[in-house]
Amino acid sequence: MNSKTVIAHRGASGYLPEHTIASKIMAHAMNVDFIEQDLVLSKDDVPIVIHDIYLDDVTDVAKKFKDRKRVDGRYYVIDFTLDELKTLIVTERFNPKTGKQVYSNRFPIWKGNFKLHSLQEEIELIQSLNKTTGKNIGIYPEIKNPAFHNNEGKDISTIVLKILSENGYKTKKDRCILQCFDTRELERIRKELQSNLTLVQLIESVEETKQFKHFANYADGVGPWYKLMLSEIVDEKFTFTSLVNDAHKLGLVVHPYTFRADQLAEFDSFEQMMQVILIEGKADGGFTDFPDLMVNFLKH
Ligand code: G3P
Ligand code: CA
Repeated sequence: MNSKTVIAHRGASGYLPEHTIASKIMAHAMNVDFIEQDLVLSKDDVPIVIHDIYLDDVTDVAKKFKDRKRVDGRYYVIDFTLDELKTLIVTERFNPKTGKQVYSNRFPIWKGNFKLHSLQEEIELIQSLNKTTGKNIGIYPEIKNPAFHNNEGKDISTIVLKILSENGYKTKKDRCILQCFDTRELERIRKELQSNLTLVQLIESVEETKQFKHFANYADGVGPWYKLMLSEIVDEKFTFTSLVNDAHKLGLVVHPYTFRADQLAEFDSFEQMMQVILIEGKADGGFTDFPDLMVNFLKH
């Protein structure tokens, strides 16, 4: 295995609808190090693998349960039981207002027969594939919006930690990295809930890059938006902020998000993005929708 960590972002989501079982199987076959699970609770307290607290930008909920939207017009995972969620068809991400697919060159919208699934089901899939292939691919769950869950009277972190522990993910030696954007919640997971798992603090603002000393009190790494690593581009050369050095000095690993071959922004190619972020920028790995491209880049 190479020394940079390849994390399949929502599975092999550049090729199959995000967070479907199919996208997780494809990512597993691509020899990644970790496969990501974003987690939201159902009405009956089951952690569901889905990116948002909403259902209407990746499923047919608006058609099947027309009357179950809230006053804001959105359909919430937390308003449906697991059995109800299982009746929905999952599709490639789209804008619920226009019906238009977000990434136009990805898996065609409304094709196939994909379903939602629970964290437990995904763990069983990955552990079983590890057994049949002899691999040891890890899981990289994210607690989504703990404040929203708290307002709904639910403690998502306690529920998720219990499932992880029951499935053998308890310490830093186990192949599980737990992530969250909410700084207070990740600190609570370490200090109050006493988790011994590897923890990664997700960050999205420059402000948060000044708080690494505090994060190092409870986290083992940071997961920044990759642009926070970049300072400027002069004569086609990239210069970097002190983010990676600051993190490394405190013993924090750096796993930036998200590397997308169909959203290159300031880069000419996916390979250039990898060269800049992983090699010149010295990130320790990262989240990608195109795991095969990252694995291939790291082979050379
Ligand atoms: O968790 C890392 C990365 O996935 C963060 O962004 O919005 O895709 O969950 P998001
Ligand atoms: Ca995530």
